[in-house]
Amino acid sequence: MKTFPLEPIEKAPIAELRALQLKRLQATLRHAYANSPVYKAKFDKAGVHPDQCETLQDLAKFPFTTKLDLRDSYPFGMFAVPREQCVRIHASSGTTGKPTVVGYTQNDVDMWASMVARSLRAAGAQPGDMVHVSYGYGLFTGGLGAHYGAEKLGLTVVPFGGGQTERQVQLIMDFKPSIIMVTPSYMLAIADELEKQGIDPRSTSLRIGVFGAEPWTNDMRRAIEARMNIKAVDIYGLSEVIGPGVANECLETQDGPTIWEDHFYPEIIDPETGAVLPDGEMGELVFTSLTKEALPIIRYRTRDLTRLLPGTARSMRRMEKITGRSDDMMIVRGVNVFPSQIEELILKQSALAPHYQCILSREGPLDSLTVAVETQPGMAIDSPAAQAASAALAHDIKTFIGSSARIDLRSEGGVERSVGKAKRVLDLRGK
Ligand code: DLL
Repeated sequence: MKTFPLEPIEKAPIAELRALQLKRLQATLRHAYANSPVYKAKFDKAGVHPDQCETLQDLAKFPFTTKLDLRDSYPFGMFAVPREQCVRIHASSGTTGKPTVVGYTQNDVDMWASMVARSLRAAGAQPGDMVHVSYGYGLFTGGLGAHYGAEKLGLTVVPFGGGQTERQVQLIMDFKPSIIMVTPSYMLAIADELEKQGIDPRSTSLRIGVFGAEPWTNDMRRAIEARMNIKAVDIYGLSEVIGPGVANECLETQDGPTIWEDHFYPEIIDPETGAVLPDGEMGELVFTSLTKEALPIIRYRTRDLTRLLPGTARSMRRMEKITGRSDDMMIVRGVNVFPSQIEELILKQSALAPHYQCILSREGPLDSLTVAVETQPGMAIDSPAAQAASAALAHDIKTFIGSSARIDLRSEGGVERSVGKAKRVLDLRGK
């Protein structure tokens, strides 16, 4: 079997990696302080100077960056190079208000492509593979990020983008790609369409799916792998840091994304106090870029909840598969509920399809949670099997999560499909 060789840094001794990180961190802090007035003001206000970073632990002295900092400096105020030196702009729409805007120099887009190439290699890409990209192209980083990385590795790219599910299926059948890059929720929609066209989803040419851009559970991984007869690996990233390719799972272990630590330095903090937590403890993931030029990002609070784990297939640390964002946490009558917990319980019911949405509403003074979920294609919602699954799901949610939920069974297509990130929580309170 032909394979791509690893880069030496991926297997380097930890001491070598840490030394490289410190050197790059110091340069990044100096660059941000000298060239971005926003960072200069933030550091000055916190009473810290880049010279005070003598060890990696010293990073904790520096202030966090949040989405608000980027919004306040909309559109280009945090850039540390003149806008003319940017070769690309991306933006993340967010749910409300102005988008957050990210700029890239030529070196930045080259580094990004290298990280996506490395991610695809970790995912098991081999010379000669063809990649079908169903992440959206445009201001969203998914499509173009995947695209340039796959090209950099020397693969054949089909730049489809999101939507037009029938045509996606046609091209997958005609071109015979071996890899697909898509959100896991949209993969399910493509699988449904394959079945609708009378094609066994297990029979396609696809071998590997590189899934990310939204939380998905290990149960969802197993469900997709079984249904599509592929290996499903997790790709993580966010536009503020670069886009996809900040971390990627290695095919040989499938044990949580390896963080490409030579370019992105991770910390886990207590979201309440901001204190740095030791490896292994759950908290909010924070990233500092180590080589970015246009928009160096210092201690960016991702809102993603996870923990750092030791390296396995590579020297670099892994993060536990992200199953929730603090933004997605629902508080239902005092009980914290994440959509991923609901997802796990839905996947236990063979009569239910993994298309679901959590709907929050207010009944008088109290919040109530409704889980809208589809039955398997062709199964009537009033059939005994569907009704039994509904009762079992409500029971499991009460038992394992501690919250009461109403189950709103819907037939095939009853839960809105997204062609990109699925919207798992619909909040109707206050509306
Ligand atoms: O979603 C970048 C991306 C594109 C990653 C394609 C992977 C594949 P944003 O739109 O800025 O960027 O959204 C970033 O999406 O903070 C996480 O909450 C979530 N997210 C991204 N990847 C994963 C993943 C892109 N593998 C936000 N697992 C992040 C769970 C993920 N959540």
